[in-house]
Amino acid sequence: MSKTSVLFVCLGNICRSPAAEGVFTHLVNSQNLASEFTIDSAGTCDHHIGERADKRMREAASKRGIELTSRGRQFVKEDFKKFDHIIVMDNSNLEDVLSLTGSVEDKKKVSKLTDNLTRFTEYDHVPDPYYGGQDGFELVLDLLENSCSNLLNKIKA
Ligand code: 4NP
Repeated sequence: MSKTSVLFVCLGNICRSPAAEGVFTHLVNSQNLASEFTIDSAGTCDHHIGERADKRMREAASKRGIELTSRGRQFVKEDFKKFDHIIVMDNSNLEDVLSLTGSVEDKKKVSKLTDNLTRFTEYDHVPDPYYGGQDGFELVLDLLENSCSNLLNKIKA
């Protein structure tokens, strides 16, 4: 069976999308499904290429048993060829990613993480925690845990 590939995208690839990659990977591993998935994350900007996830995000995730190990990279047009699902965090990411699509098939792969929320449904985007306090990082993880769980169930079905 071919693997399902999932790419999470935010602006910097040091806060929200590496956390999404970590949360989704943790869920997949806990269900012994690692061999069926390719999971990655990327940023729409090039400011944090090669960097580890923000320390505040890593610490918040670690407290929930999730280790963030990825390094920052920029989203590229070729990602449309490599991934089945491209999940963005906010409308600005959505606009940036859609601006690189080359076909209707590319467009169909793109959705917002908040589309899969069944809790916290008042959120239509994952708020950028970078300039805020620790609460913002906890909120990101709350949104990701609910949405990624629903996304995995949807893909399995
Ligand atoms: P992210 O957060 O998009 O969730 O990784 C940000 C990280 C860095 C910056 C902005 C947002 N920045 O301006 O450097």
